[in-house]
Amino acid sequence: MTAKHALPSMNALWMPFTANRRYKRDPIMFEAAHGMHYVLAGGRRVLDATAGLWCVNAGHGRESIADAIAAQSRKLQYISTFQVGHPLAFEFAERLADLAPGDLNHVFFTNSGSESVDTALKIALAYHKALGNGGRTRFIGRERAYHGTGFGGLSVGGIGVHRRPFGHLLPGVDHLPHTYDHRQQAFSNGEPSWGAHLAEDLVRLIQLHDASTIAAVIVEPVAGSTGVLPPPAGYLKRLREICDQHGILLIFDEVITAFGRLGHAFAAERFGVQPDLITCAKGLTNGAIPMGAVIVDRKIHEAIVQGPENSIELPHGYTYSGHPVACAAGLASLDLYLGERLFERSAALETFWADRAHALKGLPNIRDIRTIGLLAAIEFEPRPGGPGQRAYETMRKALEKGLLVRTSGDQILLSPPLVVREDQIDEMFGVLADVVAALD
Ligand SMILES: Cc1ncc(COP(=O)(O)O)c(C=O)c1O
Repeated sequence: MTAKHALPSMNALWMPFTANRRYKRDPIMFEAAHGMHYVLAGGRRVLDATAGLWCVNAGHGRESIADAIAAQSRKLQYISTFQVGHPLAFEFAERLADLAPGDLNHVFFTNSGSESVDTALKIALAYHKALGNGGRTRFIGRERAYHGTGFGGLSVGGIGVHRRPFGHLLPGVDHLPHTYDHRQQAFSNGEPSWGAHLAEDLVRLIQLHDASTIAAVIVEPVAGSTGVLPPPAGYLKRLREICDQHGILLIFDEVITAFGRLGHAFAAERFGVQPDLITCAKGLTNGAIPMGAVIVDRKIHEAIVQGPENSIELPHGYTYSGHPVACAAGLASLDLYLGERLFERSAALETFWADRAHALKGLPNIRDIRTIGLLAAIEFEPRPGGPGQRAYETMRKALEKGLLVRTSGDQILLSPPLVVREDQIDEMFGVLADVVAALD
């Protein structure tokens, strides 16, 4: 894919979530990106149907973000936010709190989605402890969930192949069933009408473990990495009701869904369900600098931030929490999202996007297509004896035709930057239709 003479030595780098030996045999090397396009080493442009890794929501190479990073980097490259501070961290937190729905008005900064999830879980424990309910230590995650790779996120996560090499993980975690049933939901556009009853499994888990042992339920509003599984209509509302009845916190992991992916700043708004904590990352800085955040309800903050004024209320944080350059990138990203009305743009494109995606139905080997917001999954029937091959071959052939998509098992996952145009959406599904039609 990339001219061999242009390649650096590839021995030392152990690549994350990559078939390292296969990659290094036939590497794909990128060297630049602007707007909706990446540029491969050698100069070929490819249309980005992935927003990087679900993160470059305002498109690539945005000048205002680059300028903000450069300016902040010249002014103050580093100061911690442990017992000292700098204005941008406070300003960015205020802006995020204003953007977040309801009483979600306190922000804890991290450096990634994984750290945001671990932080949210720890805040949930600390909240119950502060209220005198230290026995509430159990977490409820969900099958097929992806919450990152920290021990906390992996423990509440539900993707078996990610968990298997790593032993017992956190004790005291249980999982709701995932919400996907092919017979009931195939080719769904938006929230499937079947499946709200699956929220009742939370009642079953509460009967099993007792509410007094459960700290929090964590779900992705739309399960992303596992293959874009929109929630059944009414499911999230019912989870909220059950959590309220039993004093259990509800965490929405919005690492993918925040910042316009579903046509709103947060998925919580789209689904009309108010969580107690939101985790985010990715689009927080348009992918330009690593950063994450946990946005926390007032009641949780009030419960924890009390006691003697000179005590550290929450013994938690990261060297780079609220990093000045990351905050500058985040503020510039927010300015772009709001200034260019990208959340509204995403909402306005949703029907066009879904129509084009579902037009692939009927092509050979396609088992399912699911869409919501500017997200889509195209799932193949696995090739006998070769699971995952059809998706991988589709990804490589699409790349040869100038389109970047990503794979997960036997699925193609699509999440374009929100600046995508209709003709570019046509191009994406046109390339995919050609590639899939020729696939055996
Ligand atoms: C819902 C969700 N949570 C957490 C994460 C982990 O984020 P990171 O890779 O930044 O640690 C991801 C990453 O894709 C995600 O999709």
